[in-house]
Amino acid sequence: PSDIANQGLGENIAPCSSCHGAHGEGNAAAGFPRLAGLGAPYLEAQLDAFASGARENAVMQPIASALSTDQRSAMATYYSQLSAEGAQASKGQSDNPPDTGAELAEHGRWANDIPACVQCHGPAGVGVGEHFPALAGQPAAYLEGQLRAWRNGKRPGGPMGLMASIAAKLDESDIKPVAQYFAAQ
Ligand code: HEM
Ligand code: HEM
Repeated sequence: PSDIANQGLGENIAPCSSCHGAHGEGNAAAGFPRLAGLGAPYLEAQLDAFASGARENAVMQPIASALSTDQRSAMATYYSQLSAEGAQASKGQSDNPPDTGAELAEHGRWANDIPACVQCHGPAGVGVGEHFPALAGQPAAYLEGQLRAWRNGKRPGGPMGLMASIAAKLDESDIKPVAQYFAAQ
C-alpha cells in the first residue's frame, strides 16, 4: 500500500499522496480530506462506495474502481495506521467567528431534532472509534461538500442513514459555520 500511496499504480492511479499529502494529512487549500488516523472500516467503506458509484466524486471514482477489493482494504488499513497527530491541515483557519458553528456542533438544536455533532464525532470532532470519522481539521470546503452531498443524495447516508437525516435537517445557513467550526479545530 505504501507504494500505491506514494507512487501510484499505472495510468489510472495517481499517487494518493499527491492529493492527500505525504502523511495522509490532506490539503486544506485544495479541500482534499485528511485520511490519517480515520478508522479502517470507515475508509474502506468510502473506497467501496466510490468504486460502486454510490458516493459520487469525479476524482475518486476512477481511482477507487481501478483498485481491487483487496487493494482498497489494504489502503484503508494503511491510512488508518498513519498518525492523526499533526494531520489537521486546516487547524486554526476559519473566516467565521468561532462561536457561530460552535453552538450547533456542541449542543445541537433539539427543536429541530438535531443532536450535537460532538455526540458522535467526539469533543471538538476528534472522531470516535472506527466508524465515527474525525471532522477536526478537515478542510472546510470538504466538510461543506459532504453535508451538501447528503442533501443531494450523492453520498450514501452512513450507518442507519444517520448523516443523511442530520444533513437534511440543517438550515442552509448552518452549513458553512459548522463546517468552519470543525475545520478550525
Ligand atoms: C476522498 C482515498 C487518491 C482526491 C477520499 C476518501 C478516501 C480516499 C478514503 C474519503 C475520505 C473521507 O471520507 O473522509 C484515496 C486513496 C488514494 C486517493 C487510497 C490513492 C489510491 C486521490 C488522488 C486525488 C484524490 C490522487 C486527487 C487527484 C480526493 C478528493 C476527495 C477524496 C477530492 C473528496 C471526495 C468527496 O468530496 O467526496 N480519498 N484517495 N484522492 N480524495 Fe482520495
Ligand atoms: C460522517 C458532519 C452529527 C454520525 C460525517 C461527515 C461529516 C459529518 C462532514 C463526513 C466525514 C468525512 O467525509 O470524512 C456532521 C455534523 C453534525 C454531525 C456537522 C452535526 C450537525 C452526527 C451525529 C452522528 C453522526 C449526531 C451520530 C448519531 C456520523 C457517521 C459518519 C459521519 C456514522 C460516517 C458516515 C459514513 O460512514 O459515510 N458527519 N455530523 N454525525 N457522521 Fe456526522
